[in-house]
Amino acid sequence: MAGNAWRSLLTQAVGVAVRKPALASASFSRGVKTVTMIPGDGIGPEISAAVMKIFEAAKAPITWEERNVTAIKGPGGRWMIPPDAKESMDRSKIGLKGPLKTPIAAGHPSMNLLLRKTFDLYANVRPCVSIEGYKTPYTDVNLVTIRENTEGEYSGIEHMIVDGVVQSIKLITENASRRIAEYAFEYARNNKRTSVTAVHKANIMRMSDGLFLRKCREVAENYKDIKFTEMYLDTVCLNMVQDPTQFDVLVMPNLYGDILSDLCAGLIGGLGVTPSGNIGANGVAIFESVHGTAPDIAGMDLANPTALLLSAVMMLHHMGLHDHADKIQTACFDTIRDKKVLTKDLGGSAKCSEFTAEICRRVQDLD
Ligand SMILES: NC(=O)c1ccc[n+]([C@@H]2O[C@H](COP(=O)([O-])OP(=O)(O)OC[C@H]3O[C@@H](n4cnc5c(N)ncnc54)[C@H](O)[C@@H]3O)[C@@H](O)[C@H]2O)c1
Repeated sequence: MAGNAWRSLLTQAVGVAVRKPALASASFSRGVKTVTMIPGDGIGPEISAAVMKIFEAAKAPITWEERNVTAIKGPGGRWMIPPDAKESMDRSKIGLKGPLKTPIAAGHPSMNLLLRKTFDLYANVRPCVSIEGYKTPYTDVNLVTIRENTEGEYSGIEHMIVDGVVQSIKLITENASRRIAEYAFEYARNNKRTSVTAVHKANIMRMSDGLFLRKCREVAENYKDIKFTEMYLDTVCLNMVQDPTQFDVLVMPNLYGDILSDLCAGLIGGLGVTPSGNIGANGVAIFESVHGTAPDIAGMDLANPTALLLSAVMMLHHMGLHDHADKIQTACFDTIRDKKVLTKDLGGSAKCSEFTAEICRRVQDLD
């Protein structure tokens, strides 16, 4: 798998996005484009700097507008992202984001969640394809998880009923379920994929997952060219670790998608090498690395920038800048396949800056 499969997959990952209303690739295809860069916390600034260096080496026609998204309290005490970050995203429509730390059980809510809500980033798309030269117990993984990103268990509606009893609401709506199902089938059709599997627990959560599943079934009726299957989440997990090659496109509610997409990332080598895109209804898209802030190695020049770089490659395809995307991706995969300059998490001993310099050198050699 690897090189070519990734190239076509990431190119394909764009296919649906560019067909979404208000986001024509043509509008991105000429001239220098502005992208909102949200470096994030922990290792975020290091890996963002690495990506910007590689983009410069590749002469990608991008100017970056760097913005912080530390949580601030707006009118009425509501948490919000800083207005200058929102204004930049509203204008550029495209963001690249490093990891953001979330305080546990106190303080501000997840900024990732807030970004998704603010820009209605309803579809999280994660291609998982085996990387040549990076050995894992699995070969030939080639699947895409599509996660509903705005509701479900992550609606943030929690309250205490009485002392010692807390209730959390899982919100499933007809509209959001139909929208994500349509996205998944459009994605499959546009990307010449053959099947969509709806992942659910409608046997237990009959009303909420039942509604999600019903919408998937209804949408499937309009896509007779795509094979539709439905499977319980636990069965998918079991089958996934036994033989991931049986899966193609998987669509699911928020929490299941959060967990299953990380599991799938593990099949190809972990979060350090897995890209991700969040596609919105209003033309906004934010591409991001899905690992955390790695506080244990922050500031030590040890971080692996691959996940953010591959997310940036997805972003370039999304913007119609396929040549630059291909060049950067080739340089990245060649570096990994060659095994000479790898960060520690990839089994090497190179610093982030050395790994970055190697990719820059290879990008320039491709000119
Ligand atoms: N998308 C996001 O913004 C996101 C995702 C997950 C966690 N977080 C946040 O990150 C913080 C830390 O979370 P965590 O410790 O559970 O997970 P983590 O992903 O930050 O770290 C887990 C392990 O993976 C390593 N690691 C992660 N990314 C790496 C990279 N690019 N290169 C090399 N090694 C890497 C870390 O060093 C650590 O050993 C928390 O505040 C959490 O809320 C943010």
